[in-house]
Amino acid sequence: MRISVIGCGYLGAVHAASMAELGHTVVGVDVDARKVELLSQGKAPFFEPGFEEILQRNVQSGRLSFSTDYAAIAGAQVHFIGVGTPQSETGAANLTYVDAAVDGMLPHLGKCTDGPEIVAGKSTVPVGTAARLAERIAPTGVALVWNPEFLREGFAVQDTLAPDRMVYGLPADEQAAAAAQAVLDELYRPIIDAGKPRLVMDYQTAELVKISANAFLATKISFINAMAQICDAADADVTALAGAIGLDERIGKRFLRAGIGFGGGCLPKDIRAFQARAHELGVGESLGFLAEVDKVNDAVRRSVVDTARRLLGEDLAGKRVAVLGAAFKPDSDDMRNSPALDLAQELVDLSASVVVVDPAAGPILADREDLPYEVADSIEAALTGADLVVLGTEWKQFTTFDPARAAELVARRIVIDGRNALPREDWKAAGFTYAGIGRR
Ligand SMILES: NC(=O)c1ccc[n+]([C@@H]2O[C@H](COP(=O)([O-])OP(=O)(O)OC[C@H]3O[C@@H](n4cnc5c(N)ncnc54)[C@H](O)[C@@H]3O)[C@@H](O)[C@H]2O)c1
Repeated sequence: MRISVIGCGYLGAVHAASMAELGHTVVGVDVDARKVELLSQGKAPFFEPGFEEILQRNVQSGRLSFSTDYAAIAGAQVHFIGVGTPQSETGAANLTYVDAAVDGMLPHLGKCTDGPEIVAGKSTVPVGTAARLAERIAPTGVALVWNPEFLREGFAVQDTLAPDRMVYGLPADEQAAAAAQAVLDELYRPIIDAGKPRLVMDYQTAELVKISANAFLATKISFINAMAQICDAADADVTALAGAIGLDERIGKRFLRAGIGFGGGCLPKDIRAFQARAHELGVGESLGFLAEVDKVNDAVRRSVVDTARRLLGEDLAGKRVAVLGAAFKPDSDDMRNSPALDLAQELVDLSASVVVVDPAAGPILADREDLPYEVADSIEAALTGADLVVLGTEWKQFTTFDPARAAELVARRIVIDGRNALPREDWKAAGFTYAGIGRR
């Protein structure tokens, strides 16, 4: 099938390359000329395992191309919307980019001669957006579906090609719904044939599936981080606690690792946008707990700074702190709302001399001007002369780093494991004072 993808960021570029990988002919459109240029050369504009490989393969085969010109979408049968929906000043989702994408598409819709043409929304949007956009594109005769995306950065390719489930939010009109569903089924045939569930529902439920999934995940993380605070106060161990409660199938083990909390371009803004939308709908109180989820997430970042002061003394001036990690999670270079960088900034604000290192985000960070901290190009360089080591992002390079080697490089052997991901006994054996999150 011929398809187009509007917005070629972490979601859109991976989706475009993955759809080409399934055998479709894909054009990606983005307003960022630099990104389009890189993608057109088969170069990934961001770090995502396995992405550059499928990008190159499909660009070379001619099945995948990129453009800044919306005219390139004319004649395609499915048009995906994958532009950003960042947080606005009020906390609500900023839909400017989604509306601009629709503006750009409108003159080129209704030109497909291969069968029924659809627009498929992938961006995470407030409930009610799809119905509004469907009205906007109705005059072109093209139907809208909402097909939210659940990919995880770091696993984006695998999650796109083999998702846990696919959700189709379909139009209320039965005929239009059946036609749109048939188009999506044809598009995703290899995924459906592999047995992945495909769930069909209305627009508003599909929109809510996505945002409530993220609200649940954020809640789970803040839950275990709240337990970590209790464990700290009660001299208990949150990793033992998580292991024990996680064996209850109703709770489950995943996402129960206490640490410096969630960040990135999705969870923080999504839980705020969800609350803002609930208020608009007159049911703000139902999501009051999400404000607490946000608060716990902030508090856990701050608790690491308190631990640093307990271990190094109140006055951090002149103390050298190595922060291992800048991306909000490992296997990504995404630094949006990064807990590790937030922490680095807080330590700088307390006059510490901070050096940050990150295998993928580090080089991007180093190119920025007026940084308040140093950026090291190797773990060794970051550790050299450090009074304190803080793990901010659980990259494998950090969690497998030899603590005996670290001990040779640092000025003082003190480590705060902000992700409870370091082998504690090994670091202690190397002479380090070890502090985790919620671990005595
Ligand atoms: N990143 C994820 O892991 C993920 C997962 C699921 C859902 N989402 C959702 O997907 C959406 C996109 O997220 P992202 O992380 O890819 O953001 P991103 O910022 O990486 O990408 C957005 C892209 O859209 C482009 N863009 C903006 N306005 C445009 C326009 N008018 N026309 C064409 N292109 C335009 C930008 O230049 C950018 O390249 C968001 O709604 C997000 O919540 C993201």
